[in-house]
Amino acid sequence: MIVSAIKESLSGERMVALTPAAAAGLVKHGLSVRIQAGAGIAAGFSDAAYEKVGITVVADRAELINQTDILVQVHALGSNPEAQRAELAALKRGTYIIGFADPLTDKTAMQVLSQCGVTLLSMELVPRITRAQSMDALSSMASLAGYKAVLLAAEKLGKIFPMMITAAGTITPAKVFVIGAGVAGLQAIATARRLGAQVSAFDVRPAVKEQVQSLGARFIELPLQEAEAQTPAGYARQQSAEEQQRQRELMAHSVGDSDVVISTAAVPGKKAPVLISDQMVAGMQSGSVIVDLAAVRGGNCALTRPDEVVVHQGVTILGSTNLTATLPVHASQMYANNIANVLKHLTKKGECILDTQDQITRDMLVMRDGIIINQSVRELLDLPKLEVPAAATGTG
Ligand code: NAI
Repeated sequence: MIVSAIKESLSGERMVALTPAAAAGLVKHGLSVRIQAGAGIAAGFSDAAYEKVGITVVADRAELINQTDILVQVHALGSNPEAQRAELAALKRGTYIIGFADPLTDKTAMQVLSQCGVTLLSMELVPRITRAQSMDALSSMASLAGYKAVLLAAEKLGKIFPMMITAAGTITPAKVFVIGAGVAGLQAIATARRLGAQVSAFDVRPAVKEQVQSLGARFIELPLQEAEAQTPAGYARQQSAEEQQRQRELMAHSVGDSDVVISTAAVPGKKAPVLISDQMVAGMQSGSVIVDLAAVRGGNCALTRPDEVVVHQGVTILGSTNLTATLPVHASQMYANNIANVLKHLTKKGECILDTQDQITRDMLVMRDGIIINQSVRELLDLPKLEVPAAATGTG
């Protein structure tokens, strides 16, 4: 089968879905790999670097899309709503699309792709299970974003992070508070600690306390929980409005006492909880910085504006929604490895085998030849439950 990667069309995106190294691995695995000319340049990978490892570079984008069996992207339709619609006509029915596609939110994109008769596997839906760790692109991206969030905060803050004892006096370390200690939050904690900050963190899942402490940060205990904080799948349960209000009250002191707040609180597929009110921002020292990684889902801070810098009573609030685009080399390297591992999982002897008995394939599969398989997406589109959800079970 032919696997192709195209130049990303989302505004500001510099990543590429396949690096030369990952593409070479796929060739070894028995797949034929093509790339659009110039697709890797913004991430530092020249056309020559792909050609050197036996990848065909194709100048004509529409021809590349039309001739491919499997299209791999960072942002497929859904995750890139403005662009790409014009290109849908080039897609053959039955083409496999693998990438971020926002299937649980973008109804229209799912309808349009379904009409195109494609088979969509969403990178957002890779299950967070041990066997799928090497395919988990959300974790790869969150890790990089957690790191970059701290660097952005350090750059905006008019203070240094570490303690310094100098002839000109002693400088106390900056105080960093991280809200949400999942993948991005833990990486933010580790990065802020490496820079010498005094770090504290809170997460509704008490299970992460030890991980926070093992990184040298203080875990803030809040008398919050009345119901179970964690779902059986290990994610945070969605909070009620009252619970969010109580959390805001209990966290106000920690936020007000910090130079930097990095917020990463998220519940998969839901709007981000609003955990920092405008009054809490007003309670921070002028010159403090909030980096709201949840901006893409509405933000953890009431004042966050996606991809804008908001200054409120001297406090800067950054709501960058695509920090990984600012680290295109390593973001592409990690993403391409995740994509290559997905492809190796799905293909044998150069052919795609969709075994829906397998949890990874089943969870990722949104639609097959245009038929929406994923129950949550069917519910989103008000489609009736599939009689036999395993209708698509089998190979093909
Ligand atoms: P994750 O699911 O690993 O971690 C989220 C954490 O938030 C979990 O530990 C959860 O228990 C915690 N949480 C949920 N509700 C909470 C609450 N009310 N209070 C405190 N903690 C709470 O998610 P991950 O992968 O770390 O991503 C975090 C956020 O970063 C997501 O919103 C994601 O979309 C965003 N992100 C942003 C990027 C950017 O460039 N801006 C890039 C990658 C991820």
